[in-house]
Amino acid sequence: MKSVIFDLDGVIVSTDDLHFQAWKSMADRNGIPFDRQINNLLRGVSRAESLEIILRKSEKSYSEQQKQELMQYKNDIYVKLLDNLKHSDILPGVVELINRLKKAGVKIAIGSSSKNTRKILQKIGLETVFDAIADGTEIQHSKPDPEVFLVAARKLETKPENCVVVEDAVAGIEAAKAGNMTAIAIGDAASSSLADYRVNTMMQIAEILNLE
Ligand code: G1P
Ligand code: MG
Repeated sequence: MKSVIFDLDGVIVSTDDLHFQAWKSMADRNGIPFDRQINNLLRGVSRAESLEIILRKSEKSYSEQQKQELMQYKNDIYVKLLDNLKHSDILPGVVELINRLKKAGVKIAIGSSSKNTRKILQKIGLETVFDAIADGTEIQHSKPDPEVFLVAARKLETKPENCVVVEDAVAGIEAAKAGNMTAIAIGDAASSSLADYRVNTMMQIAEILNLE
């Protein structure tokens, strides 16, 4: 029996766009070029690593203290944006897929680099739906390191090779494969050559898993 580990931002809920808005405010305020293409590189990576990627475009160098302030600035905006998050922000097909997986007895987990994971799940009313949650508060290394998915597998009490990961991040697909898991790519992650499957809709995942 397979278990399914879902990424959160950009797979379960449209918070990937809120991350974009918050990072964009921080970048604009500091005169750093930032666009959707750069934003795609931040999918799946931690807050600190996201900042490093953004700062590659900056001519200035920043002290540790300044970096902390930039991250705080972004997170404050992000958390404010999360205030308006609601059940209807869950991406199309997610609730239906979750229901089918549960009916089929498939265990489900979240594997996200975000430290705001639990707050988001609460906001969208999915905090008690998953059998396990592994997030950015529990790991040393974010995606493409497999750590967060291995933590999820351990909490599900299942072997990595029995896990199927659903990801919108290229780094997430790399993490799944590094962890010896099956990788399903949706959205931006479809560009990864490592993906085992590429889907456009959640229902295609039910087909891949041969759910009744
Ligand atoms: C962090 C990063 C963000 C990245 C996200 C991936 O979220 O800030 O850039 O896209 O992980 O899920 P945070 O811990 O700040 O919520
Ligand atoms: Mg994501």
